[in-house]
Amino acid sequence: MSTIKRLELSQFRNIEKLSLPADERVNLIFGANGSGKTSLLESIYVLATGKSFRSTKTAPLIKQGSGEFTVFAELSGGVSVGLQKFRQQKPVLKLQGHKQQNWVATARLLPVQVLDSNTFRLLEGSPGERRRFLDWGVFHVEPGFIDAWRNSRKCIANRNALLKSVPLDRGQLKAWNVELARESALVDQSRCRYFQEFEPVFTRVLSELTELEGITLQYRRGWDMNQELLEILERNEKLDVRYGTTQGGPHRADIIVRQGGILAAEVLSRGQQKMLVSALKLTQGVIQSAMESRRCIFLVDDLPAELDEENRSRICRFLQKLEGQVFLTCVEDSTLKNSLDWSASITKFHVEHGKISR
Ligand SMILES: Nc1ncnc2c1ncn2[C@@H]1O[C@H](COP(=O)(O)OP(=O)(O)OP(=O)(O)O)[C@@H](O)[C@H]1O
Ligand SMILES: [Mg+2]
Repeated sequence: MSTIKRLELSQFRNIEKLSLPADERVNLIFGANGSGKTSLLESIYVLATGKSFRSTKTAPLIKQGSGEFTVFAELSGGVSVGLQKFRQQKPVLKLQGHKQQNWVATARLLPVQVLDSNTFRLLEGSPGERRRFLDWGVFHVEPGFIDAWRNSRKCIANRNALLKSVPLDRGQLKAWNVELARESALVDQSRCRYFQEFEPVFTRVLSELTELEGITLQYRRGWDMNQELLEILERNEKLDVRYGTTQGGPHRADIIVRQGGILAAEVLSRGQQKMLVSALKLTQGVIQSAMESRRCIFLVDDLPAELDEENRSRICRFLQKLEGQVFLTCVEDSTLKNSLDWSASITKFHVEHGKISR
């Protein structure tokens, strides 16, 4: 993985043009409401993943009145990544000047995690959010995962289309069942391995960050633990035909987070949820760090929101200990004065009306 050495934006949200000589450790970005802090983090995220963490479409990211935005980053090791997004056409992503067909290679280079005020959605939200969270980790540690994952998705899409067709082609359905069962087993095995590695690290991180007790994680694979998926697909064929979709499979996997047996989202306070989710996300960072030459890039937006000073400090110190690259935003730099360890490398940037200064 790499760190960002220089970030260049053009026509991104309210930012006309910007060049940021990033600190390889902590970048503290401060400025008034609406100055462009979140936009800056968003630009890094969209470069690394092709998506925004605050809107489902990327067109709103283009500066009003402009036809396209560009985000360019010079990474450590002399690697460069550039993204150009137009209003109508498909985005153009280039890694080392070579046009990319997808985000796989770029995402591998830039493992980013976001901590922001939507963070606790991970607990409250749909299983899909927790599945994506789990898969992010699996993707970064298991090179073969992406293929099995894609194949399983393709099988489900084809199988679902078939389920809706009249008359039902049983021969074809049987063939998709077999293929789906095979790919699903691979996806599940990878997720299971990662989860087993994740859980004990999470317990340690959580106890370092909070006093929360009785928190448990449970991985659900998306179909009955005691039965083969092939059996289930065959047995539940009628049900699947009625719904027109495949009911059981890796697309239904989830991580259940509980405290004392009750869903964490239903018992924990907002701040506690935020700390719990922070622990989950920081655990991803710890696991990355344990791998050779791997570090996560953490994008931390408006940390002070809903967290008291003690909790802010705990997260900041933990992030600094992880030794990855961090981009932290806040309205006033003084808010995090006591939270960060200033003996380490920190660069402050002030954002004002889409312009940045050191
Ligand atoms: N496509 C766009 N074109 C121009 N300006 C935009 C666009 N999208 C958003 N903006 C504006 O960009 C500004 C920066 O927004 P951003 O969310 O980055 O601010 P922020 O510094 O994070 O503020 P806050 O402290 O309130 O979170 C806002 O004034 C917003 O209205
Ligand atoms: Mg903001």
